[in-house]
Amino acid sequence: MIIENLFDLENLNKEQREAVETLDKPLLILAGAGSGKTRTIISRIVNILDKGKAWPSQILAITFTNKAAREMKERIDSYNIPGTESMWVSTIHSACAKILRINAERLNYTNNFKVLDSHDQSVVIRKILKDFNIDSKKYKPGIFSNYISSFKNKGIEFSDLRKEEIGYPDRQKFKVFGEYSKRLKAMDAMDFDDSATRFQMKSLDTSSELVI
Ligand SMILES: Nc1ncnc2c1ncn2[C@@H]1O[C@H](COP(=O)(O)OP(=O)(O)O)[C@@H](O)[C@H]1O
Ligand SMILES: [Mg+2]
Repeated sequence: MIIENLFDLENLNKEQREAVETLDKPLLILAGAGSGKTRTIISRIVNILDKGKAWPSQILAITFTNKAAREMKERIDSYNIPGTESMWVSTIHSACAKILRINAERLNYTNNFKVLDSHDQSVVIRKILKDFNIDSKKYKPGIFSNYISSFKNKGIEFSDLRKEEIGYPDRQKFKVFGEYSKRLKAMDAMDFDDSATRFQMKSLDTSSELVI
């Protein structure tokens, strides 16, 4: 036992304490803002580690913001439990990017692949429009990025699409989508949609387990 008196360190009310002490089954905790959820989760993680129910490397804690993840990690670190640096405390986006990086080779990327933000993405699109002699004043880059994004958010990659199925008015957008996918691949880059949505997960071999 690393921590002598967990419940002296963290004052917990009855419901919090029940959640922290229940380690033999999954729990869903629903409570309003500022009602003590984070405190409960931190205490529960500490209790799980303290009781040896899991190794730190088996803990995944997802938060909404990077700031919340940092705070949660700092709070847990303050208990000086060995090995907590191997815990995953992050946003869903960071966790996805980390899993993708570890498994990058299966996606034909290197594990140093870049993730383009919306600005980088528009630079690539502008360049393509220029190379294709498409007037970017008339056809704003946003039209193309929205088009690309709408597919990716449905888990559809360019290679899943067939030219014949694309209506005539969308042919140009389709062509840009193809070139965009090609250039990103050549740059060893994914855009935010790629890394954030599950569709890259889909490209991993689902018959074997992900390495995490
Ligand atoms: N049982 C408790 N007794 C006293 N203060 C508490 C208790 N639980 C949480 N708090 C405090 O209340 C505030 C909000 O708690 P927090 O866990 O961040 O809530 P939530 O994550 O639900 O928004 C924090 O300052 C926290 O330290
Ligand atoms: Mg909270």
